[in-house]
Amino acid sequence: MKRVAVLTSGGDAPGMNAAIRSIVRSGIDKGWEMFGVRLGYRGLIEDQIIPLSTRDVSGILHIGGTMLGSARCLEFKTPEGQAKALRTLNQNRIDGVIIIGGNGSQTGSYKLSQLNFPVVGVASTIDNDLYGSEITIGVDTALNIALESIDRLKTTASSHQRAFLIEVMGRDCGYLALMSGIAGGAEMVVIPEVPTEPEEVAAVIYRAYEQGKAHAIVVVAEGAEYNASKLMQYYEENSEALGFKLRATILGHVQRGGNPGAFDRLLATRLGAAAVDCMEKGEKGVLVGWVNGRSGTIPLEEVVSNKKQLDLSLLELSKKLF
Ligand code: ADP
Ligand code: F6P
Repeated sequence: MKRVAVLTSGGDAPGMNAAIRSIVRSGIDKGWEMFGVRLGYRGLIEDQIIPLSTRDVSGILHIGGTMLGSARCLEFKTPEGQAKALRTLNQNRIDGVIIIGGNGSQTGSYKLSQLNFPVVGVASTIDNDLYGSEITIGVDTALNIALESIDRLKTTASSHQRAFLIEVMGRDCGYLALMSGIAGGAEMVVIPEVPTEPEEVAAVIYRAYEQGKAHAIVVVAEGAEYNASKLMQYYEENSEALGFKLRATILGHVQRGGNPGAFDRLLATRLGAAAVDCMEKGEKGVLVGWVNGRSGTIPLEEVVSNKKQLDLSLLELSKKLF
């Protein structure tokens, strides 16, 4: 009988709980003993490993966040931290670990697998910046939250003939901004992948004003050189070029909270089960992600040595829809 642990790491994402439930129940279905690591890599270093039964993961499928907790753990980035984590896994006689998380977390997965410990990663981050998975757990829910906020801000913007800067998450990736901007009919999208000067943003806002639009919505990625705060600061001294009065809303962590939608529950359930299948087949050092409409695996080495590219033709499309 195998003893397999599951761990969630980095920024939480709606659907992580659905993945934990799927992994635990799929493992138990194979006759394995299942465990959870509390607080991501910190829990591995501090030996916070708990047994998980079928009942322990009941009632979590529809809840956002992660029942195991997550953390950003700097100590795990060091060889000493990784050695401590390995010791904990061996002391608890764990045969394999399934790590649910994004870019940083899967770099950690790769480090553990380089120490010859069987690791399978599961692609999860709202940023959708993980190479090897077309979409990751949490993206769809976060996108819908951003979109709902854009829709709401648009109605008040129109009532008052205002322009709005709406800042969305994504660390250094513009995916959430671009997609929510297109789906929300924004006048402009500002992303880190394409450097944009404040004057260019002002010109678009003024064009909307001049054309008689009731509002101008600019979706700004938090990772853009000129994020919402910097743009606001700039326009404090240069507001005459805008036409509209300007407001800014930073959506922040509201995008990561709340219950996962159907898409993320299904994605998480399928990727979790696929990760358990990988473990059973002895496939290790791989990421389980979404590839060509189904679950697929890719070596962690490839995941960590490549950068996922954003489809910039969609930015061009968004400009045509002004
Ligand atoms: P995410 O997985 O959401 O991208 P982070 O980038 O914060 O989140 O990474 C989560 C955790 O993964 C970090 O706190 C750290 O413990 C681990 N990690 C990140 N980068 C590395 C690395 N280069 N080596 C080992 N562990 C890492
Ligand atoms: O990686 C997910 C994410 O939400 C990013 O979009 C954002 O930049 C970051 O995490 C925020 O991190 P924290 O929760 O540590 O503030």
